[in-house]
Amino acid sequence: MSTKNKFGKEGWTPERLGNLSGKTYLITGANTGAGFEASKILLSKGAEVVMLNRNATKSNKAIADLKEQFGAETKVSFIKMDLSELSSVRNAAKEVFNTVPKIDALICNAAIAQVAKQTFTSDGFESNLGINHYGHFLLVNLLFDKVEQSKGRVVVVASEGYKMGLKTIQFDDMNFDKNYHPNNTYCHSKLAQMMFAYELQDRIKAASKNTKVYVCHPGASKTSLIRDTAPRMTRIIFSIMVKLPIVQSAEKGAFPEVMCATEDELDQQAYYGPTGRMQWTGPVGACTMESFVKDKTIMEKLWTVSEEQTGQKFEL
Ligand SMILES: NC(=O)c1ccc[n+]([C@@H]2O[C@H](COP(=O)([O-])OP(=O)(O)OC[C@H]3O[C@@H](n4cnc5c(N)ncnc54)[C@H](OP(=O)(O)O)[C@@H]3O)[C@@H](O)[C@H]2O)c1
Repeated sequence: MSTKNKFGKEGWTPERLGNLSGKTYLITGANTGAGFEASKILLSKGAEVVMLNRNATKSNKAIADLKEQFGAETKVSFIKMDLSELSSVRNAAKEVFNTVPKIDALICNAAIAQVAKQTFTSDGFESNLGINHYGHFLLVNLLFDKVEQSKGRVVVVASEGYKMGLKTIQFDDMNFDKNYHPNNTYCHSKLAQMMFAYELQDRIKAASKNTKVYVCHPGASKTSLIRDTAPRMTRIIFSIMVKLPIVQSAEKGAFPEVMCATEDELDQQAYYGPTGRMQWTGPVGACTMESFVKDKTIMEKLWTVSEEQTGQKFEL
């Protein structure tokens, strides 16, 4: 737990936000959960939000709800993108390039978690790694120039789960053919996302580019992350947990990603999220993070493997 919060005792809250009109935020997986709540907060301040979602029906419903709340002129739209298909990510990135003039922040929020049985994306990747990491790796790669031109940011939504799994990248069996485990695969994918983010910072610096990259996590938040695909026991435990004060609202879970998309003078090396008990709830600020996340040898190797697997060099 961190001792000093630069945003004061209450930590970062949306009260710090000024008028965001003229700003454009792209959020993956924004039809529900923390992504939806982040959209709400950003729209309430006049920003434009482009959701990158996989399901048109859910997206249209989310947009209708947001327009009902904020008015028909509210600038919220969606582009169809399924992170489990690299071709869909490519199509979505093309559409963004053609239709979205600038990106103030690209928020990599979408994820799956706790999948009971080993499943694969359409490109043959273990689904947690394929969706949460490879899908976002390719998306950020394809949109990087637009973010850079916009002097924008990339925000990676991670998870405290990064330290609850194997604590490293399992290069010799990325699909977990030998040791599939619903929690370890999720934790593995979230660690991969964090390593990607910190490696991206290093490469941006080396290339003298301007894009900022921030890493955050929502603590433990009441969202729809635990689905029917989760093991029965996980579903039972989560359904009990969300009734206790150890889990916060989805809205509060959105604060760290909104902060990372908007706040000036954040520290790129930091890891932001709730700083209270177990870093699951509490005032939003800089959290403690295990040092293995920044293991340079693994970060570099993961980058190379991710380029190979997504079939796209990521050169800055
Ligand atoms: N909730 C927590 O306690 C918690 C804790 C740690 C970290 N996180 C992180 O917080 C972020 C937000 O998750 P959440 O808790 O808000 O969960 P959520 O309510 O389940 O939202 C996840 C979003 O990701 C989308 N998504 C899933 N697979 C996708 C795919 N293949 N392509 C495109 N979009 C896809 C979902 O779309 P559909 O609705 O169409 O499925 C949904 O919009 C995730 O990165 C998660 O790892 C959450």
